[in-house]
Amino acid sequence: MADRSRHLVGLLLGAEEDWPTAFEEILRRVGRLTDASGRVHEVEAERLTIEPFELTDPVRPGLVIDRLAYWYYHPREWLKKAALMDGTYLLNSPFTFQSMEKHSAYCAMLRLGLKIPRTVLVPYKNPVDNVRWAYTSAKYNRPFDLDAIADELGYPLYMKPFDGGGWRGVSRVDDRAALHRAYDASDEMLMHLQATVEYDVFARALSIGPETMVMDFRPDEPMHNRYAVSHDFLSPKAGAECARISRIINAFFGWEFNSAEMLVAGDEIYPIDYANACPDVAVTSLHYYFPWAITALVRWSTYCLVTGRTQSVDLRTRAYYEIADDESLSYDAKLTAYSALADEHFETDRYRQWCDEMLPHLPERVHDYVTGPAFDAMLRRTVEATYPAHEQERFMAHFRGLVGLWAQEQTRA
Ligand SMILES: Nc1ncnc2c1ncn2[C@@H]1O[C@H](COP(=O)(O)OP(=O)(O)OP(=O)(O)O)[C@@H](O)[C@H]1O
Ligand SMILES: [Mg+2]
Repeated sequence: MADRSRHLVGLLLGAEEDWPTAFEEILRRVGRLTDASGRVHEVEAERLTIEPFELTDPVRPGLVIDRLAYWYYHPREWLKKAALMDGTYLLNSPFTFQSMEKHSAYCAMLRLGLKIPRTVLVPYKNPVDNVRWAYTSAKYNRPFDLDAIADELGYPLYMKPFDGGGWRGVSRVDDRAALHRAYDASDEMLMHLQATVEYDVFARALSIGPETMVMDFRPDEPMHNRYAVSHDFLSPKAGAECARISRIINAFFGWEFNSAEMLVAGDEIYPIDYANACPDVAVTSLHYYFPWAITALVRWSTYCLVTGRTQSVDLRTRAYYEIADDESLSYDAKLTAYSALADEHFETDRYRQWCDEMLPHLPERVHDYVTGPAFDAMLRRTVEATYPAHEQERFMAHFRGLVGLWAQEQTRA
């Protein structure tokens, strides 16, 4: 039928059951969409399986949300084939992420004039597993004075892998003895030394397409308690700047589903971690913010599919650098100019208008879902799979309470 389009969102999943269940449920409740031309769009989700594929095999999903390819290379290569041969839209494209670890993001942000703490990359402590190592290092590795570098940066400082994630290998170094202990233990990890930012609050921004939620994050708390529900933990200026920086860097690299970490001191924003290809969206960590995250995932993937948005991995680096190099612009003026590029990239205005016209019923459907029995059953299964029996009732109450609070606030708004 010419006046009907079917779209498929593929989900590439690891061990998680919670958000995919919520995503499928909300998408189903959204139902068919009729666009301005009268064309009817059906958007469905399917969990993808892993199996042999010939490089010319057709790819069914128009869009894939990927939570797997960062460690499982068979589906990663399938994603690349899908992007190159079928134009499949990817959240995220492995092409934009594989070479873009923390280190690259620091470099790009420095180039844009953002406030990255001073950072030094030191060579490997231990031999790299390669037969050429002995000769190469003997001939070309220059001896260096680790203490002098640390003294320059000042104590305390942070030592962490250039491509880090999950706090693996991160240490706070208070003195010389700790510095040598940490470096000796780094083994075959490639390490940054980074100056410490004395910060007031830690902001974590979860971005999905042009949408960003800036949250008050407490890294020292246990997982279920890291995101505080607080709406005014930043000044309006700092809050807007955190969201803006996140959108800019995501647009710069072509990332669409990412979480970013910023240390906030007064109104100054210091980005420290910006390349999380597989951001955590578990209900057991996001709780209150979980309905927002899944709603945004539904909104953005539906928008991309129904409007036929195409994805490109070509980056517009030069356009950003031209702004960076314009000496007549202040820091704020540069952020404003970068934001305009980011909004162009994400079609922010068109997206918002489209959501208003095509998805006016979405908030109510999400509200019905998260206050109903299907959500509660999903939460129960997740809690049972995550916590020991004697803690399950406490955690059910905790997450029910927080998601319930979100739902109440939506009703009031
Ligand atoms: N320059 C810094 N100044 C102050 N604190 C820092 C700095 N760098 C890192 N930290 C602290 O160390 C933690 C881990 O650092 P970072 O985010 O860079 O590593 P990670 O491996 O990505 O960890 P995670 O996965 O928990 O985000 C941060 O959450 C922050 O509390
Ligand atoms: Mg981090």
